[in-house]
Amino acid sequence: MNKKTVKDIDVKGKKVLVRVDFNVPLSKENKGEIADDSRIKAAIPTIDYLLDQGSKVILMSHLGRPKGEANPEFSLKPVAEYLANIYADKFHFLPSDTVVDEEVKAGVEKLEDGELALLENTRYVAGETKNDPEFAKELASLADLYVNDAFGTSHRAHASNVGVASILPSAVGFLIEKEISLMGKALEAPEHPFVSILGGAKVSDKIGVIENLITKVDTILIGGGMAYTFLKAQGKEIGKSLLEEDKMDLSLSLIEKAKENGVEILLPVDVVVADEIKDGAETEIVDIDSIPADKEALDIGEKTAELFASKIKEAKTVVWNGPMGVFEIKEFANGTNQVAEALAQSDAVTIVGGGDSALAIENAGLKDKITHVSTGGGASLEFLEGKDLPGIAAIEDK
Ligand code: 3PG
Repeated sequence: MNKKTVKDIDVKGKKVLVRVDFNVPLSKENKGEIADDSRIKAAIPTIDYLLDQGSKVILMSHLGRPKGEANPEFSLKPVAEYLANIYADKFHFLPSDTVVDEEVKAGVEKLEDGELALLENTRYVAGETKNDPEFAKELASLADLYVNDAFGTSHRAHASNVGVASILPSAVGFLIEKEISLMGKALEAPEHPFVSILGGAKVSDKIGVIENLITKVDTILIGGGMAYTFLKAQGKEIGKSLLEEDKMDLSLSLIEKAKENGVEILLPVDVVVADEIKDGAETEIVDIDSIPADKEALDIGEKTAELFASKIKEAKTVVWNGPMGVFEIKEFANGTNQVAEALAQSDAVTIVGGGDSALAIENAGLKDKITHVSTGGGASLEFLEGKDLPGIAAIEDK
């Protein structure tokens, strides 16, 4: 990677503004409770390094989409409580409805070397998502240096990442360095066979990824709701399954392009069908030529899961993005779980794009058995599409 990292800049005794992605899911039952702390844990190596170096660390993040105004529902308070548990009296929460104000500035001035502070949700201010230079200037005024470690937000060009990088000397943190080097290597210099598994509801969400991967991989396994548009385009009856009619021609041209590149595309050979998407739904596994007209396919079937697992077993590099079915519901989770299990058992370099597939790996307790589970949903998708991520592009080159 050609970007400066925290190790390339002198951070000793400096005030360092660190953009992290603490946009963590909160539990539905108890809003104050963090349902998955992976993103916070992933930022800890950079935070600890800076604290060890005697920096004064000022953390900033968004949480959800509060639409440019203060709203307690989107406060970073639960994250502040989490950090207070780790760092005790070295940690200070500096909440403000305007993110930066005189009190916040005074709080930052009081920080000792090796202490850290957390600002309130950057999206409380409308200027954040507009990359407003005034808001960027306010944030930058708090520090000497800027470090971006928010991989999950790096596909956005906002004041707290792109804006501050244009004002302060900048570097990326260890998380961004790791995400880019592991995913970058998988895309640029993969060991073959290279297998990609793509799922999720829509073909339209994955066009860019397929187009980028089609010149790099040996095999693409397609599951999830997007598979039915491909199948329908090939003349299969798909009953009430998800269909993007306007993407049928594109699906055929992607299959054609794959053939031209010698890439094998595998679609489901059997599926789990049901009348409705609900817990306890009555299900049946049918061959792909026998989807009943009044039913919807909601997961890949057993034969498909075995076929996909056998391809994963032969691979040396595997990239997975998107679930195989409606995995949030037990009756339709088997395909996604079997793919997760196959990745965990594989000796290949295994990369899981963030979002739903990362959640499936987390739920199955298999994270330790995967080479890299990305902390980015939209960001990892754009990375796999081969796009430049503005939050990273804005950082100084080495
Ligand atoms: C994410 O969860 O993908 C990132 O935190 C970005 O959030 P956003 O989609 O609201 O910009």
